[in-house]
Amino acid sequence: MKGLILAGGSGTRLRPLTYTGAKQLVPVANRPILFYVVDNLVGAGITDIGVIIAPETGAEIKAALGDGSRFGANLSYIPQDRPAGLAHAVATAEPFLRGSEFCMYLGDNLIGMPIRDAVSTFRSNPDVAAAVLLKEVPNPSSFGVAEVDANGHVVRLVEKPKEPRSNLALVGIYLFRPIIFDAIAKIQPSPRGELEITDAISKVIELGGRVDFGRVTSWWLDTGKKDDLLLANDTVLDDWLESAQEGDVDQASRISGRVKIGKGARVERSIIRGPVVIGDGAVVSHSRIGPFTAIGDRVSISRSTVEHSVIMQDSSIVDIARLEDSLIGKRVAVKPGASRHGALSLMVGDDCVVELSSD
Ligand code: TTP
Repeated sequence: MKGLILAGGSGTRLRPLTYTGAKQLVPVANRPILFYVVDNLVGAGITDIGVIIAPETGAEIKAALGDGSRFGANLSYIPQDRPAGLAHAVATAEPFLRGSEFCMYLGDNLIGMPIRDAVSTFRSNPDVAAAVLLKEVPNPSSFGVAEVDANGHVVRLVEKPKEPRSNLALVGIYLFRPIIFDAIAKIQPSPRGELEITDAISKVIELGGRVDFGRVTSWWLDTGKKDDLLLANDTVLDDWLESAQEGDVDQASRISGRVKIGKGARVERSIIRGPVVIGDGAVVSHSRIGPFTAIGDRVSISRSTVEHSVIMQDSSIVDIARLEDSLIGKRVAVKPGASRHGALSLMVGDDCVVELSSD
């Protein structure tokens, strides 16, 4: 069985972070989301994996994943010239998939459980044309929604329905047999101009194919926006972080809870309350960090308190009394300016949000 990871697309919802990088590489607990995706496929025995890439971000995705050997995978990159929809991405990958059954996995998708069982159930039922993973959600009209019958079969899929007929959302993990290509050839672009995978799967059902489903019983995180990403960070730190100390912590610092400190990192005269991850080469001095915080590689934090936040690589936080619930991109400097009657002096890029204390 092959794998197909979708790592193209435009990533408008995560701007400004996605102006300068692919959304699949946004870090959760200091690891790109895409790495968890590759791990989950490899954990299910799927190592021959195609990765759909976009012209704008493809080089960055390739640089991050390489040939896949460090994940135990063999990766092939498949350029998609424009983000024309998930079904368009599958059709683009047809030469790579060459008649094989395959697992398609959205590259910005994070679930808290292995897909191994769903994959082996699908493999042992050759009469099933496709299977989808579903999760009960309180707000189904924001997602692709599945209607299912009592026999455990999917009867219909609708993209973002105004009046959803179930609360079962598609989480972005699909299992297909080659009939999906016949179905894609028979569908038209949707009103938003994309070839929709929901339409293609509905077409499989119309063509007489059986579509099964599995349930995601763990958490599932849609990392579309800032608060989703902070929640993903909390959940992954809480569930998966293991303590490790590869950097230097001085005698005057106090570490409690689960804390991972990367290679070459230094913690001086600081208090770290886990779960916290501190990246390689980061320097934390005279500061309080955590809980629920990810500090990226080479970040520098001094004389500051940072809680429940993600600070990405190469940024610095200096003399900030309290920073919380924040998502700070790469190479950002947060520091007090020379005060002129309490005036602020800012240089902030496009689509950023700056929330100042109203105290
Ligand atoms: P989406 O989140 O549906 O689309 P998007 O990346 O355009 O994002 P936004 O809504 O923020 O603008 O995509 C889900 C995943 O599939 C994501 O990893 C990008 C990928 N994708 C492709 O590889 N090709 C495509 O044509 C599309 C639409 C998405």
